Amino acid sequence: MQISTNQSLKPLTTQINENGNLSIGGCDLVELADKYGTPLYVIDEKTLRSICSDYKKAFEKYPKTKMMYASKALCTSAIASILAEEDFGFDTVSGGEIYTVYKAGIDMEKVLFNGNNKSYDELNLALEVGVGRISVDNFFELALLNEIAQSKNKTAEILLRITPGIECHTHEYIQTGHLDSKFGFDLTQIDNAIDLIINEYKNLNLKGLHAHIGSQIFETSIFPDEIEIMAKEIARIEEKFGLHLTEMNIGGGLGVKYTNLDNPPSTYQIGELVINKLNEVVEKYNIEPPTIFLEPGRSIISTSGITLYTVGSTKQVPQGTKYIAIDGGMADNPRPSMYQAKYIAEVANNKENTPKEKITLAGRFCESGDILIKDIELPQLEQGDIICVYNTGAYNYSMASNYNRVQKPAMVLVNDANSEIIINRETLDDLIAHDIIPDRLKK
Ligand code: LLP
Repeated sequence: MQISTNQSLKPLTTQINENGNLSIGGCDLVELADKYGTPLYVIDEKTLRSICSDYKKAFEKYPKTKMMYASKALCTSAIASILAEEDFGFDTVSGGEIYTVYKAGIDMEKVLFNGNNKSYDELNLALEVGVGRISVDNFFELALLNEIAQSKNKTAEILLRITPGIECHTHEYIQTGHLDSKFGFDLTQIDNAIDLIINEYKNLNLKGLHAHIGSQIFETSIFPDEIEIMAKEIARIEEKFGLHLTEMNIGGGLGVKYTNLDNPPSTYQIGELVINKLNEVVEKYNIEPPTIFLEPGRSIISTSGITLYTVGSTKQVPQGTKYIAIDGGMADNPRPSMYQAKYIAEVANNKENTPKEKITLAGRFCESGDILIKDIELPQLEQGDIICVYNTGAYNYSMASNYNRVQKPAMVLVNDANSEIIINRETLDDLIAHDIIPDRLKK
C-alpha cells in the first residue's frame, strides 16, 4: 500500500547539504537560524502540499468528500491561503479562527464552526460572515443559535455533534468520542434535539451528523465504527422523523510519526476503509450516499513543521544527567510537559566528526518540568549549535504562550530554496502592548 506524508518522521525535503548542514525546502537551517533568529518555526511547503494531495488521492473514489483542515492545529493567514489553494475547507473552533480565514479571503461557505461552548459573539460572527456549517454541540447552543439566526432573518445550516461512544487509545486529554465526553449530544439525546429543531427552531436547517473520536489515533477501526453508528442514526432519523440527512462529518484524528515507535496508518488505508464502509452502510441501511466531511489537523501540518533552537548553557549533574539548555521550550512547545509527548531532534550544523553522548534537552523556562527531550543521543554540543526538533507543525505555535514573558517565535515558510516570513517574531513592545498602568500608580 502506498505510503503517505504523515508516516514520515521529517519533512520530505530534509537533506544534508554541501556544507554538511541540514537543509529543508532547499534552505540551509543554519542560515535560516542566522537570518531570522531562534527559536524559529519552519514550515516546508512541499511537505504540506504533499499530504494534502495524499488525502485527496485517498478519497478520490468517493467524490462526495469534503476535506476541511482543522485549523486549531495551526491557524495563520498564510497557511490558510495554501490550504485554500489545495481546495480544503476549514474546521474552525473560535471567533479568532473564523476571523483569520475570513481575512485571508477564504470562501466562507467552505468553513465549519465547531466547539462545545460557542459564545453569542462567535455565533453572531459566524452567521455574519456566512460560515457554511455550524456543528451544534448541545441544547443551549441550539436555542442560542436559533435566536441569533432569527434576529438576522437567516437560516443556519447545521450538523449535530454526537458522542458515538467509541474509545480510542490515545492520551486521555485528547480523546473525545467516549460516552463521558464533554462534547456533543449523547445518542439518547438526539431525538429530543431533533424534535426541537423540527417544531421550535425554525431558523435551523439540520443537514447531518458530526463526530470526532480523538487525536493522534493509530487504530484504523474507529472510522468504520463511527460510520456504522452515524449511518444507523441517519436511517433511524429518516424513518422516525421523515428528516433526510445527507451529510456525515467523521472528524479528524489521524496520527503522525513523532518517533520511530509511532506507526500511523496512511491516508490511503483510511480512505479505503472509509469508502468501503460507506458503500456497505449505504446498502445496509438503504440511505443516500452521504457527503462526508473529514477534518484532519495534526496529520496535515505536523510533519511539515520543525523548530530551530540555539544551544546555550550546560549543566552536568555529578554522576547524573547532562542538561543542555536551548533558547525555547514549554512556551513554544507545551506538548512534552502537557502530554508527555516525545520528539526527535538533530543538530543542524555540521558535527559529522563529533562523538555522540546521551543528554537531556532542557527548555529555558523557569520550571523543572520544562524538558523538551529526555535522554537523547546527539553529537557533543557546544554553545551556538543549532538544534532542529522535528514534527512541530501541529499544536506548537497554536498552543504557544508568553510564559515568563518571553516573545513568541517567528515562523518561516520554505520552498525551492526560498524562505518567507509568515509570522513575525514578537517584540518586547508586543509583550506590554495590552498592559495598562492605572493613573494612580503612574510615577
Ligand atoms: N475535529 C474536532 C472536532 C476536533 O476536536 C479535533 C481536535 C480535530 C478535528 C482535529 O484533530 P487532529 O486531526 O488534529 O487529530 N492539543 C492536542 C490535540 C488536541 C486535539 C483537539 N481536537 C495535542 O497537542 O496533541
